[in-house]
Amino acid sequence: MSASTASRRRREEPELRPVDALTEDEARTELASLAQEIKRHDRLYYTDAAPEISDADYDALRRRNTDIEARFPELIRTDSPTRRVGAAPAAGFAKVTHSRPMLSLENAFEEQDVRDFFAGVRNFFRRTSTEALVAEDKIEIMAEPKIDGLSIALSYRNGRLALGATRGDGTTGENVTTNLRTLDTVPEMLAGEGWPELIEVRGEVYLERAGFFALNEERAASGESVFANPRNASAGSLRQLDSAITARRPLKFFAYAWGEASAPFARTHEEALARFRDWGFSVNPRSRLCRGVDEALAYYREIAAERAELPYDIDGVVYKVNDLALQERLGMVSRAPRWAVAQKFPAQQAQTVLRDISIQVGRQGSLTPVAMLEPITVGGVVVQRATLHNEDEIQRKDVRIGDTVVVQRAGDVIPQIVSVVLDRRPKEAVPYQFPDHCPICGSLAMREPGQVARRCTGGLICAAQAVERLRHFVSRHCFDIEGLGEKHITAFWQDGLIRQPGDIFRLDPEVIAKREGWGELSARNLMTAIDERRRISLERFINALGIPQVGEATARLLARHYRSLAAWRREMEAAQDPDSEARAGLLDIHGIGEDMAADILGFFAEPHNRAVLDDLAGEVTVLDYEAPAQRTASPLAGKTIVFTGTLERMSRSEAKARAEALGANVTGSVSAKTDYIVAGADPGSKATKAAALGVTLLDEAAWLSLAGEAAG
Ligand code: IVH
Repeated sequence: MSASTASRRRREEPELRPVDALTEDEARTELASLAQEIKRHDRLYYTDAAPEISDADYDALRRRNTDIEARFPELIRTDSPTRRVGAAPAAGFAKVTHSRPMLSLENAFEEQDVRDFFAGVRNFFRRTSTEALVAEDKIEIMAEPKIDGLSIALSYRNGRLALGATRGDGTTGENVTTNLRTLDTVPEMLAGEGWPELIEVRGEVYLERAGFFALNEERAASGESVFANPRNASAGSLRQLDSAITARRPLKFFAYAWGEASAPFARTHEEALARFRDWGFSVNPRSRLCRGVDEALAYYREIAAERAELPYDIDGVVYKVNDLALQERLGMVSRAPRWAVAQKFPAQQAQTVLRDISIQVGRQGSLTPVAMLEPITVGGVVVQRATLHNEDEIQRKDVRIGDTVVVQRAGDVIPQIVSVVLDRRPKEAVPYQFPDHCPICGSLAMREPGQVARRCTGGLICAAQAVERLRHFVSRHCFDIEGLGEKHITAFWQDGLIRQPGDIFRLDPEVIAKREGWGELSARNLMTAIDERRRISLERFINALGIPQVGEATARLLARHYRSLAAWRREMEAAQDPDSEARAGLLDIHGIGEDMAADILGFFAEPHNRAVLDDLAGEVTVLDYEAPAQRTASPLAGKTIVFTGTLERMSRSEAKARAEALGANVTGSVSAKTDYIVAGADPGSKATKAAALGVTLLDEAAWLSLAGEAAG
């Protein structure tokens, strides 16, 4: 590399952000550009024999890449330089779609949350006399330590391991079978007998603390970056393209759940764990059957007290309803089962000095204060930023620049400032003055009565808001456009190349290629990434619009209800009339309240938003919502159903959950679009209206048989 290139490089990137300060999006973007840059230098060195940079600079690039990967192992790219030897790229992992989604768990932090969970289960079954144990709070619950590792799924066909996959986003993971085969605790053949022909055993891959420390020592000794915690180390170890590396890491596996099974193999969770043990899996020996909430809480206290003596890290305990028939009836909400909950341990804390408060501007203009801290390790992770939430929070805690503060981390959540250590307050520290102007565009920042956030009034002229909206638009759960990170979006916005989402799809590769830092190849790669997203699911599309309060889960509800962009748009315009059927229809969606509906309708009331949406819809194809495969076979799939009156055999919430699990839309009011009305005792006016509209009326027995339950 010539001296001038070297100095240019240094001038262009004066402040490489510390790896610990990177957000996930920034890390993803940087890993993408590092992969490209290193690949280019590999080619220059190996193929063209014309290196442009010094060995030291090349090493610095690779080190930066490894450091970011160690902190964000989930972001390790299939084309990562750490997985390639010289210029020969290795193939990545194939994607695997889970036949049943891998769910996550609701969290409980306080005892009361656990009591609420038990009460919720009791309530769910409250109308049925059969579950006397539930009613008496003697419900059987399997309690298990919650291991801080990585969940995976192992499919066995005729007793032989056929596929091992990571959880990924719960729907799609990666095929890491070869790597999983290197674990002693993953049987190649199931032992014993009685296993179903097809069975997918799920559980956690983890590293014991001793193995984790040894691995880090080894890495430090050879100049490699260390992993922040055992979970990251497990993830990094499992996502190696060379399974010989995985084999050297002492990974272990505990079985605790399952997905698809071609035949039933247990009646309770406890029995299922016993089967897993018979078949040759490790099952956590600390798992225990508890009866009622008090026994469960006693188990938690016992495990919490012994936590440090366990050979592996745990971050709480998991409670699961033991009876599988009850589990089935409870079903799931959003992405988590209603029959399980995780009680997390309280957060870990440390003290450090608050150096400064920086203000971030969000996509709706809210000003969020962020604490810039003297770096400190909390529970094994270096923390240098923490959220301060809002103006009131700063005032309430009287946090001042220069103060020593207590910082805490709980699981994966962003670090928080708990309190100020007043004894250590410097004499010159003054109360913090929250800015009343946007630090980015200079517009007035106002606080509406009753709102906690101060918002920038700059709207469309505020670069921060525009960039944040676009960043959300291209982010992973929205359009998921790789290689278009904050840095590029900011630059494109400032130069007027992208002002609204539709502009992304009209970018000119020739213009991009000529920009500083870009070339033909990188411009072409970006175009490919953009083109790959021209067909998009309705739920991602809705999520991407950035409507206040409408995130992934609500976007899914809306997509499921309206099914096509055209239908949704039409209904939202009709719903501007407060007395319309369309308004009632929106409010009938379970999970959408008045407040959220107001934000959705507010979005459509704004002509600018409609224009942006139409412009975008002209560039992309929004796919109609498709009900998940197993639901379409149900007679209720896609049907709209209303329950009225009192049912004998199940509570209203169970009936609703059951109908939704079978793919139906459950609404609260009858309209011409209602397919069925299920009338229990004392049905009232809804049944009359349904009869007038010619809606099919079902009694409880007919409903039960339609729902696949034996009536009687
Ligand atoms: S059960 C449907 N049991 O916690 C329930 N999860 O927060 C599936 N985890 O993704 C999970 N120990 O990675 C279950 N004994 C345990 C667990 C456990 C750790 C993890 C797992 C899951 C996450 C959910």
